[in-house]
Amino acid sequence: MSSHIESTLVENRVFKPAKAFASKARIKSMAQYKKMWNESIKNPEKFFAREAKELTWQKPWKKVLDWKVPYAKWFVGGQLNVSENCLDRHLDGPRRTKAAIMWEGEPGEKRVLTYQQLHREVCRFANVLKRNGVKRGHRIIIYMPMVPEAAIAMLACTRIGAIHSVVFGGFSAESIKDRALDSGATLIITADGSYRRGTIVPLKKNVDDALKSGETAVKRVIVFRRTAAEIHIEEGRDVWWHRELEYVDAKCPAAALDSETPLFILYTSGSTGKPKGILHTTGGYLLHAHMTCKYVFDLRDEDVYWCTADVGWVTGHSYMVYGPLAMGATTLMYEGAPNWPENDRFWRIIEDYGVTVFYTAPTAIRAFMKWGDQWVTKHNLSSLRLLGTVGEVINPEAWMWYHRTIGGGRCPIVDTWWQTETGGMMITPIPGATPTKPGTATLPFFGVDAAIVDDKGKELGANQGGKLVIRKPWPGMLRGIWGDKARYKQTYWSEFKGMYFAGDGARRDKDGYFWIVGRIDDVLNVAGHRLGTSEVESALVSHPSVAEAAVVGKPDELKGQAVVCFVTVKSGITTSKDLAAVLKKHVRTVIGPVATPDEIRFTDALPKTRSGKIMRRLLKQVAAGELVTGDTTTLDDLSVLAKLATAED
Ligand code: PRX
Repeated sequence: MSSHIESTLVENRVFKPAKAFASKARIKSMAQYKKMWNESIKNPEKFFAREAKELTWQKPWKKVLDWKVPYAKWFVGGQLNVSENCLDRHLDGPRRTKAAIMWEGEPGEKRVLTYQQLHREVCRFANVLKRNGVKRGHRIIIYMPMVPEAAIAMLACTRIGAIHSVVFGGFSAESIKDRALDSGATLIITADGSYRRGTIVPLKKNVDDALKSGETAVKRVIVFRRTAAEIHIEEGRDVWWHRELEYVDAKCPAAALDSETPLFILYTSGSTGKPKGILHTTGGYLLHAHMTCKYVFDLRDEDVYWCTADVGWVTGHSYMVYGPLAMGATTLMYEGAPNWPENDRFWRIIEDYGVTVFYTAPTAIRAFMKWGDQWVTKHNLSSLRLLGTVGEVINPEAWMWYHRTIGGGRCPIVDTWWQTETGGMMITPIPGATPTKPGTATLPFFGVDAAIVDDKGKELGANQGGKLVIRKPWPGMLRGIWGDKARYKQTYWSEFKGMYFAGDGARRDKDGYFWIVGRIDDVLNVAGHRLGTSEVESALVSHPSVAEAAVVGKPDELKGQAVVCFVTVKSGITTSKDLAAVLKKHVRTVIGPVATPDEIRFTDALPKTRSGKIMRRLLKQVAAGELVTGDTTTLDDLSVLAKLATAED
């Protein structure tokens, strides 16, 4: 059977929630989901007020929602503290001695922090921050390995009202510098290194390089000792985490913060310019993270929950730290690579800890499939009860493999569509209610008014492809782009009046299920990581030998998309395989390993319209090896195309 036919058959399969699962779930039927969804859309204020009462408020709100397109304020007048919700409120009952974080380092060390212990560490570190001059509203960069201290640092910021900005450990010195400059950060929390596939990633060295030019406002660097690797300590600027903790008080009251107090900034790629600082605030965000853990993961006190995302991405924020801890759940954290020391590391961890809910990315699932079932079958995965995916479209074959091989055919799969900007899950099955179909994120979450519209903003009918929009504000939505009001309006709210435009293309099937096609702007999704083509292009042209560059995505079996760069060199420069390697390395240095180009194709010129715009659609087709079939009448120099198709590095 051809894989196309097979995937069509699989797409049409419907998996009803197992009775055994549904009977225990919070939402047990489609009727219950629909009733709740209808209420959440017709009367969001009532719906969300009821849900928000499950959080701990220091002062009740006066108004649930204040919405003046495109600015939303949720729970106006209310005050709360995220760390109090994630920690203090669990200390009164049996959760006090329950594992909050279970951690495993890549070399194999294990640590468990109970809620009581985590609370103590967060309070102590919050006092360290205070002693180092951190005040409400200050911006703190966290550039850490996947160790409990990353979560401790985040929670300590929230305790005192500082705004954290976590930078993924796979980003470069220049990326740290850009983010420090844009956010005006005054302090960086990092480590002497992090383990990845047996080698040490020099986190502190990257921080040193980022601060070398002296352009940023960073005055203090707190360094956690993880690897004991030799590092440079800048006198007067750098201090050790463990030294700072000596003699520090373990009492630190949780600051009462207005619901709309900025909580964190997380940088993400857009279609133009440098990554933008997505701003999330306190009350609405926490509610969204909490509610989705409650209804989508149906998290229970007895669960061992594992989200494999790095804390540097939004998934690590909402679904490794804030959502699960606000629920009082046990969250597992693993530091390293899935194939270290061997390809079965994840399955070994699931078996060792008895993981019950597992959340990962399609890219990882495709890699596991490729490595082979033998790595899975030697482990007992019977503890699993629910599986989730996020970050990119999951192809039906990978869904089926996940279902059968990891889930043993018994675990519902929640394919959750959302974005850095949305704060939490937006389109997702409810596991005890929604019949799933491989490849679709199914139906909107509560309060989410999603639609597919045409270029004019008109809603489309079944199976018509268009743009995915959200027509109502929701609690976890971004509140802006740090320091750039105009860009916020322009990027998300200018395409269609009064609607949030997500940047994704999608269609709805006859059952109303959303099938995400992928980004329709110039943003790539490489191995579940978001990457702006313009970022890679500007990294390339910053190299002295490059005159011009255009970057496009090419379908890739494993990574979803591969990064293909069309490059024209300056006159007098000779192209070669060596130069291609140099340029790949250059992009790695400028952005980080996540952006490493897969292919560099040298070409004499780039196809452009008469007005000088690069014709990316054509480049995409060339990169994919497809015939150029689209409309080329506006192409300036047709001969360019023929050359492109054969340009190789
Ligand atoms: O294209 C969509 C894709 O990832 C983009 C958001 O990327 P980021 O902000 O990095 O957040 C990723 C983790 C929430 C979206 O615009 N995406 C995310 N989840 C899915 C998805 N595409 C299809 N199906 C999903 N479940």
